[in-house]
This record gives sequence, structure tokens and C-alpha cells, in this order.
Amino acid sequence: MMSEKLRRVRAFEAEHLPAAAAALPWYHVTGGVGWINDPNGFSLYKGEYHLFFQYHPYDNHWGPMHWGHVKTRDFVRWERLPAALAPDEAYDQDGCFSGSALELPDGRHLLLYTGVRKERDEDGTEREFQTQCIAFGDGTEYEKYPQNPVITAADLPPEGSARDFRDPKIWREGDVYRAVAGNRMPDGSGAVLLFESDDLRAWRYLGILAASGRRRGRMWECPDFFPLDGKDVLLVSPQEMKAEGLEFLEGNVTLCLVGWFDREHSRLIREREQTIDYGLDFYAPQTVQTADGRRIMIAWMQYWNSVDCPPEDLPFFGQMTVPRELRVRDGRLLQTPVRELAAYRGEKREYCDVPLSGDLALPGVRGRCLDMTVTVRPAEGEMYQSFRLDVARDEENVVSILYRPASGTVRVDRTRSGYPGNVLNVREFAVRERDGAIRLRVLLDRYSLELFVNDGEQAASFTVYTKASADGIIFNTVGSARIDVEKYELEFGDERSV
Ligand code: FRU
Repeated sequence: MMSEKLRRVRAFEAEHLPAAAAALPWYHVTGGVGWINDPNGFSLYKGEYHLFFQYHPYDNHWGPMHWGHVKTRDFVRWERLPAALAPDEAYDQDGCFSGSALELPDGRHLLLYTGVRKERDEDGTEREFQTQCIAFGDGTEYEKYPQNPVITAADLPPEGSARDFRDPKIWREGDVYRAVAGNRMPDGSGAVLLFESDDLRAWRYLGILAASGRRRGRMWECPDFFPLDGKDVLLVSPQEMKAEGLEFLEGNVTLCLVGWFDREHSRLIREREQTIDYGLDFYAPQTVQTADGRRIMIAWMQYWNSVDCPPEDLPFFGQMTVPRELRVRDGRLLQTPVRELAAYRGEKREYCDVPLSGDLALPGVRGRCLDMTVTVRPAEGEMYQSFRLDVARDEENVVSILYRPASGTVRVDRTRSGYPGNVLNVREFAVRERDGAIRLRVLLDRYSLELFVNDGEQAASFTVYTKASADGIIFNTVGSARIDVEKYELEFGDERSV
């Protein structure tokens, strides 16, 4: 039986989605209407990739969490499905928080998510409980397990928190299921706990996989743990991180730990730490393994610190990044847009070895729905001081990407990109030249810019709210350089993204 809350959200979608369609990004996932945050349940089910997300369709602000739902075959063209979960049971009445999904051997699609329940004590103090719950489905309809929750405070170590216990990510290893979840330690710091189950109903706590130790932020949200290229990788989203040099931004940001999994002690021995994305809008990434063995990551393309001023005239708020293929090389995470995006490349403009000094506009190089790679080298015998790429440009607006070889940094400035209110608009990060050149790949969509440096050594994501008519592109150097430009329109025909 469908609950009243699920029926209501589906009726709301049916009524409001059609009118919102014209305002959506061209190829980035949104909720279609209303608010989204974290990607959830990114999984391969019956040959299609399903993606759920934290969803409050009724307005553009966070509210009681539902799970919205889309699916795809190629990570670019998505089909929208009706909302999958509503907060309609006693154990999740205050929200169906983040979680994950898995195809079961019996053909069912399993969702593992956090149920949130608040209670008031007699003296009026509010207490919150977060437990892990399951639901089974067929790719469209999901039934919550009657004996939910399946992981509770009783399964936690004595120092664990029943209030901050969320975002389980599940996978299968041989005959057992394993899951990691975020938790808070008594000193307020964050930890990722590891659990194991034979039947998805009874779970054993195995240990603390990794912890912030008050060094890397506080509560750790949305963990994901997987082997990749001979290493073990933990992605996590620490709250209240302290800024550190050019590597870590202040606030709720992301962290990648690369190391090896000590099975005996259920611990990740960390070898390297890094930011996952060097832009301003990136949180709560989640991965899926594809049928052909690739590890694909998608994230919420938004910074929690700037959610209070959504653009007023849009029917939605919150987008996902473009899905990215992950690799590990020399202990660092590399990310490149899914290769399937290449199938949507339309008209091409290519310029090779163009001398550049001062401003330059190239014929045919403009637009807001594009995939463009620029390679910059010093001109013969000279060194340039800076290279600047301006996009989404008109008389009033511009987003500038500035590379300075002497400092080895890229600085992205979206101050004039239509963000209402006072949000952080500039981010600078360290890069390294390869073979005497720097390569910048830019994906532009109606409300975003994603930058990939040197074939994915750094990725940086930014939401941009400049109107679509601001489509100018300018290349500039102080000093002399030579550039190659390869620019493709991205074309989706009538089959736009959801
Ligand atoms: C991260 C997060 C998760 C939680 C969800 C609630 O952005 O705070 O920890 O499950 O959002 O919407």
C-alpha cells in the first residue's frame, strides 16, 4: 500500500514537473522541481544505472527528506522516475536520509538508508535518532522492510553516537554484505564505521575504518569505500573542516584517503590525503562500479555554505556533477568526465598552435553547452606571466580561469556569474605542468562550469547562474604563449537531461 506521503509527492511531481522542464540544465541531473542534495543509491540494476537523491520537492530549500529517482544507460541522458521513498514510517518520520543501493542475487533492488526520528523528552528537549533501514524494490516501486531499522544504536561501539549515525554505503564481498556509515565520536570528531551482514537484517560492527581525529573536520558524512588501481580509497565529506593552504576549503567539504585496508583490524592505513574537487560546489560524492569495471563518481554540485540564496526565479535548486571516471595514479585520485559524453559532441572547432598575447576571441568559439579543451605552452624562448580563459561572458558577466605558471596555480573567479547574495566566489588551487604545458578541459552547462586540469589531475566544480545568452569566450595572456583549442558543442536534441 502506498503511503499518503508518497502519493502526495508523486501527485506533486505529476503536476509541476512539466512546467519546470524548460528551466533545467541541459545535461546535469536536478530534482526537476524543488530541492536536492546528496546523490543516493547510485547502482547498477538490471542493466541500468539508478540514481536517487535527497529530495524536498515542495520548495527550493532543504526540508523533510524524500528520495527522488532517475536512471540512465549512459550517464548522460537520464530518465526521471517517480519519487521512491517518503518519510512515512515511525522510524523515518523526520527524514529518509542518505544511503546506497545494490542489486541482490534474487533480482530485487535493495535500498539501505538512514531513518531519522525526533522525540521530545518530558522537559521539552528534542532528541534525534538515526538508524539504518532497508527497502526492497523492482526499480520503480520500493517497500520498506517491516522490521526496520536493521542497524541501530545497539550495534554501535560504546563510544558511538545514536544521533549522528548516517549515510550507509553498501557493497557485496563474496557471500557477505559490508557497509560503511558516518558516525560522531564523543569529542565531536567524525569516524567511518564498518559493518558486516550475511542476510541484510542482522549486522555486526567490525570497527572504525578511519576517523577525523579532530584534524580533518568534525562529523564525517557520506562515506564511500572501494578498491581502485591497487589501492583502497575512502571518500568522505567532513563537516566543519578548517581551511588549509590551497588544499582544503573551509566548511563542509570533501576528503579522499588513499591507502590500504588492514582487514585484520578493519582499518584503513592511510598513505595520502587530498581534496576531491578544488571548486566551490562539490559534496557527498558516491560511486558505482560499471558493468565494464569502471568506478564512476557523481556528487552534489553545491556548497552547503551558499544554499541560503538560491536564484529566485528557478523552479529547482541543487544539481549533480557530471559523472566522472576515477583512477588512482601515484597515490592521487584522477577524474575525467564519463567517456559516454563524447557521443554527444556536435559541431567541432579546432585551432592549433595559435600565438596569443593580450585578448583573443576565436571564430566559432563561444557557447554555454560545450566541452572545450585548451592547451597552453610558452611561446618559443619566452615565459608568459599568466593565461586567462573567460567564459559565460557578456558586458556584465564573466567567469575567469586564471593560470599563473610562476605560482603553479589556477584561480577561478565567478564573482560576476549571477549568484544572488554574498557567497564565496573565488577558489585557487595548485597544479603542475605536464611536458611544458597546461591543459584545461571545461564543461559548461546552463548553470555550471566543471574544470579538469591535465586529464583529471585536478577537478573543480562551480555553479554559475549567468543567463544563457552570456556565451562569450576570450583567451588572454600577459606575455606570449601558444594555445591549442578543441571545442565541441554538446548536443542533446529533444532528449534533454532530466
Ligand atoms: C550531507 C547530509 C547527510 C544526510 C543528508 C540529509 O549533505 O547532511 O549526512 O544524510 O545530507 O539530507
